[in-house]
Amino acid sequence: MDSKLQKLNKFIDGLDTKEGALITTLHHAQELFGYIPEDVQNHIAHALNVPSSKVYGVVTFYSFFSTKPKGKYKISVCMGTACFVRGAAEVLETFKQELGIDVGGVTEDMQFSLDSIRCMGACGLAPVISVNGKVFGRVKPEDVRSIVQKCKTEGISSGGQGW
Ligand code: FES
Repeated sequence: MDSKLQKLNKFIDGLDTKEGALITTLHHAQELFGYIPEDVQNHIAHALNVPSSKVYGVVTFYSFFSTKPKGKYKISVCMGTACFVRGAAEVLETFKQELGIDVGGVTEDMQFSLDSIRCMGACGLAPVISVNGKVFGRVKPEDVRSIVQKCKTEGISSGGQGW
């Protein structure tokens, strides 16, 4: 059996109770696999004894979960109100053009994926983007290329402030 699936089973076996453990289990699966494909959703549904439709409903409801693989660099552009009025749509459009992918897409080399998200709680820095959880504030469309280049040449560690 796939070692990630074995780890997931171990996690589920270690749960005090399976009732109400769906979200926690999905978070764990997302960490292990990077996304939650259909076969993993079905596996979790079976293991927790909940309908597959419920698992699918939860996975697609929360933006944290993804049913598709993500890139090495996960770029999220905030489209909350504060960011939107300060030009987030132009920033998002520039990322789409620079990477050649749409929102929800991943580049062929699996290096970048692009998502739009709701307010990430840093409205004072609008417009805000994050790369693997690292926050970049007051981003302008002309910054997009250098952020992508930074990923390609230096890499970007997760978390904290990008600039
Ligand atoms: S609206 Fe973008 S951080 Fe709040």
